[in-house]
Amino acid sequence: MQTLEQELSAWMRQAFAAVFPQADVAALPLNVVATTEAAHGDYQCNAAMAAAKLLKLKPRDVAQAIVDQAALPEGVARLEIAGPGFLNFHLAADWLARRLEAVQGDERLGVPAVGQGKTVILDYSSPNVAKPMHIGHIRSTVIGNALDRMHRFLGWRVLADNHLGDWGTQFGLLILGFRTFADAAAYEASPIEELERVYVASYNRSKEDESWKNAARAELVKLQQGDAANRQLWQSFVEHSLREFERVYARLGVKFDLVRGESYYNEKLPGVIAQLQAQGLAEESEGALIVKLEAEKLTPCLVRKSDGGYNYATTDIATVLGRAAEFLPDEVVYVTDERQQLHFKQFFTVCRKLGVTTKLQHVWFGLMRLPEGTFSTREGNVIKLERLLDEAESRALAIVQQTSPEMPPEQQREVARCVGLGAVKYADLSQNPQSLVTFTWDKALALEGNSAPYLQYACARIASVQDKYRERFPGSEPTTQPIKLDDPIERGLGLKLLRFPDVLQRAAENFRPSLLADYLFDLAQTYSTFYQNLPFLKAEAGVRESRVRLCDLTARTLRRGLNLLGIETPARI
Ligand code: ARG
Repeated sequence: MQTLEQELSAWMRQAFAAVFPQADVAALPLNVVATTEAAHGDYQCNAAMAAAKLLKLKPRDVAQAIVDQAALPEGVARLEIAGPGFLNFHLAADWLARRLEAVQGDERLGVPAVGQGKTVILDYSSPNVAKPMHIGHIRSTVIGNALDRMHRFLGWRVLADNHLGDWGTQFGLLILGFRTFADAAAYEASPIEELERVYVASYNRSKEDESWKNAARAELVKLQQGDAANRQLWQSFVEHSLREFERVYARLGVKFDLVRGESYYNEKLPGVIAQLQAQGLAEESEGALIVKLEAEKLTPCLVRKSDGGYNYATTDIATVLGRAAEFLPDEVVYVTDERQQLHFKQFFTVCRKLGVTTKLQHVWFGLMRLPEGTFSTREGNVIKLERLLDEAESRALAIVQQTSPEMPPEQQREVARCVGLGAVKYADLSQNPQSLVTFTWDKALALEGNSAPYLQYACARIASVQDKYRERFPGSEPTTQPIKLDDPIERGLGLKLLRFPDVLQRAAENFRPSLLADYLFDLAQTYSTFYQNLPFLKAEAGVRESRVRLCDLTARTLRRGLNLLGIETPARI
């Protein structure tokens, strides 16, 4: 099934070609999009403005010619010209109703598999070994996972790759520190915390003690040269860290297809340097090797340090080359915080110079701010991700106990888990990722307003309407009656439901889960108006069934949308 925007845009292209055979239709932005205000019709196209320039005509005349000469597509009741030459599409209620019926019969809710045959590699989460995942990592994990789910649903072949920071200078300090300061029992009980403690102690000592610093460097060199004892220790750091990360991923419902850390590409680094040199891209500068990016107005990209060590960029270049060769992806997408923007610009540019044609995309987000007092327990400067999730669940439990005291405690805990985790994820996903977010529990856990609990609650409420219908009219099947959109409120809800496939595609294409979140909130509000203003069970037979069908479609759309954001919807709240 094509989406509404695809269908109307296709008609527009064909109508333009028929009415203006001399115009280069391909060059015109002929897309038809949903309007934001009902006064502008249901869908709108502003192509007449651009076309007028090309055709040396007045925009209104261009629009008029389309209206006069093109046969209206099926489903369009009226095509009107507004303002300077906007074309406003008014769709026929009957046609919309038939379409909603088709969508209701479709598992995929009318979403076409536009990604079929295409591969995207999503590089997200990617925490650093021997360090706890902190609150900054949650955004990468949550945003990355939403992009992952949306792309998969759109038919893409997705390879989610957790590019662990498991290589680099910190391991010299860690190995030396571990042998000196580690407490075996603490390491077993809470490995990352112990490794962090060891690292801090070793790092502090290196600041005061030159010989310690040198010894750490020697351990690093030994590790890099394959020394068995150091390799074994490093391996244990990686495994212990991964086990803790896995716990968080399991809680968040996140799964990776690949977990290839930076170390995976270690062997390939000399080859990258050789390739850069062979193509004349790298040059010596103060003992280091750099790729100049003056033409691109970027500072040089460092690919080898003066001590012979490789840089973060070198690994990332090797990773792109490796991924491109092995998986032939159409796109590689990286999700990290805003501080890495320059790094990505630099190595993307270097990759292009090396001849990489894969689309490389950096999706960055602002760092989340936490106002003082957000947490009841504060440990050092880093607020650990797991603490955040625990706190979310316990706060949600307090709310559930208050709002549903009759619910069995087991179920209260399960609902609190879904609501608490949902709240944390949605607080992240509902924002433009590039805006500065201030996280507050009140906003995240609000039962009213743009929050996960509000949407989860809306789903549960709709389910109870459906239950009531089944109780009152046992044996009746609503789908035996047609959908009717006679009331403007019903029509408005129907239109909104039909936007889901286009919104989803736009959110995925622009790497903006917030577009989907905004839509779901808007849909829930539209539903609420519908529910509050129109009778359901008391409506006459036929109308009643049509309304129950709209309920069902709303619930499914909300559930699917939340699922694509990684948010669960408990049957009861
Ligand atoms: N490990 C890095 C960090 O925690 C993020 C890695 C992102 N991915 C990449 N291919 N550079 O900051």
